[in-house]
Amino acid sequence: MLARHCTSLSIRHNVSGMDSGETYWADRAALEWQVELGVTDAVLDAPVDRYALEAAKPKPVPKAPVDRPAPPPLATSVEIDAVAMARAAAGGVSDLAGLAAAMQAFDHCELKRGARSFVFCDGQPEARVMIIGEAPGREEDRAGKPFVGRAGQLLDRMLDAIDMGRAHADVARSVYITNVLPWRPPSNRTPDKDEIAMMLPFLERHVALADPDIVVLMGNTPCQALLGRTGITRMRGQWVEVLGKPCLPMFHPAYLLHNPIAKREAWADLLELNARLRGVEV
Ligand code: URA
Repeated sequence: MLARHCTSLSIRHNVSGMDSGETYWADRAALEWQVELGVTDAVLDAPVDRYALEAAKPKPVPKAPVDRPAPPPLATSVEIDAVAMARAAAGGVSDLAGLAAAMQAFDHCELKRGARSFVFCDGQPEARVMIIGEAPGREEDRAGKPFVGRAGQLLDRMLDAIDMGRAHADVARSVYITNVLPWRPPSNRTPDKDEIAMMLPFLERHVALADPDIVVLMGNTPCQALLGRTGITRMRGQWVEVLGKPCLPMFHPAYLLHNPIAKREAWADLLELNARLRGVEV
């Protein structure tokens, strides 16, 4: 209902006077009477300009920006320099047993988690020739020794053809064998550059400790690791220097299993190796 019934309703609402029961009940009765008449809105005696009231309200003062130091950047994952850690670990060992232990304790190469065995070496550490392959395959992972599968058996036959071998009775005709990586990559995939870089300090230390007269690199992965390049078809049979030692890149025996035609070049490389060991020109 409209306020014309009630233009002058004023409620003396005495907040502090609630102690006066009389006033309260009188006001309440007056209010109920007005409601009965149909009043829906209470008004004051004088009109109130609410827009003016709104405009007169003090404006909130914007807070002055406080000079706080910039928060530190959010901590992201801590980067681990696995290569530096490998270098430190490899630098701290003085013999092959210590190197094997340091490599086994190295936890930054993911391949370690999926591998069954740590595959370090085979043959004779005193050998004049150190052969470096890629990584263990399934058979090597099972046996814990490098080059024991089909490719390894072919390698043994190749060495035998020039009267050499990992267990040769004459240490001067024996070989020492290792790989770039001591853990089998899943599904025998080619090791990636990070894995190679991470394990390289150990491999370099391995060569230094074994101290062979000649290093043989079997296939692209050891060439990538120690020479920084691949292209075994062009590089095989060409003497280069690695870590101060004469080095002969050769086809990997696994490649020869799939490409028997390349055995001709492999035979030439074996003869070259043999001649160098015997100190004669081919
Ligand atoms: N291939 C390699 O390069 N190394 C092994 O130990 C076995 C296969």
